[in-house]
This record gives sequence, C-alpha cells and structure tokens, in this order.
Amino acid sequence: MDTDEVDWSALQARAVEAVGRAYAPYSRYPVGAAALVDDRRVAVGCNVENGSYGVALCAECGMVSDLVAGGGGRLVAVVCVDAAGEFIMPCGRCRQLIHEHGGADCRLLTPQGDLSMAEVLPQAFELKPPS
Ligand code: THU
Repeated sequence: MDTDEVDWSALQARAVEAVGRAYAPYSRYPVGAAALVDDRRVAVGCNVENGSYGVALCAECGMVSDLVAGGGGRLVAVVCVDAAGEFIMPCGRCRQLIHEHGGADCRLLTPQGDLSMAEVLPQAFELKPPS
C-alpha cells in the first residue's frame, strides 16, 4: 500500500480516541496508538498499567495485539499520542515491536514529522522466525 494514501489526521483521531481509554493510574501518563494496516483496517491500543509497575503494557503492545488478533498483516503507518494529543516517540521495546510488524519502511508520525522505522530504529535487530 502506498504511504501517500495515509490519512494521518484520521489515524491521529483514532489514537486520541484510544488514549481516552488508557488505564494509567500509576504513571498518570496515558498513551494511545493507532496504525494503518496494509489491508486498510486500523489497529489501536492504549497503555494498561498494573500495580507491579514493571509489567505495564505500552499502548503499542495493545496495538500490535489488535493487529495480530484481528487477522495479522503489516503495519503501514503508526501514530502515538499523549493525553494532550501530541505525537510521542515509542519506547525502545515498542520500536522493535513496530519494526517486526511493519518493517523498515513503516512510517511513524513523530514530533519531527513523518519518519521511517529505519530512521527511528537504525540497525534493528532482525531474527527470522524458524519455519
Ligand atoms: N508508554 C507507552 O504506552 N508507550 C511508550 O512508547 C512509552 C511508554 C507507557 C508505559 C507507561 O504506562 C507510561 O507510558 C509511562 O511510562
């Protein structure tokens, strides 16, 4: 799917909708994520925390779970927002997760504009799953 076709404002709206559902009572830092999938559906996620702080689920984890549970596919374009609806950068673990499911050419809308995953995660770790 051509990335020129990405409706970034529609994706941002879905991420803003998701951030409103975040469960972040410990950090008080809600996050929403939305991604366009190569079959044109949209995968979404929000962060879900836990009293055992270290096991918080990032919004991007929920988004990738939605991708896989919804039938799989490849991430084409991703938006992550905070409670104010501002674009935020995914953490290191989530960059790896997005790279695995979207590849180096997947686009990410960042505070510096539209960047590729190759730019936000150079020299990504890649391991082919055994067949
Ligand atoms: N968080 C995300 O949801 N995504 C990120 O990429 C960075 C951090 C969440 C985890 C935790 O619930 C809160 O933000 C504060 O770190």
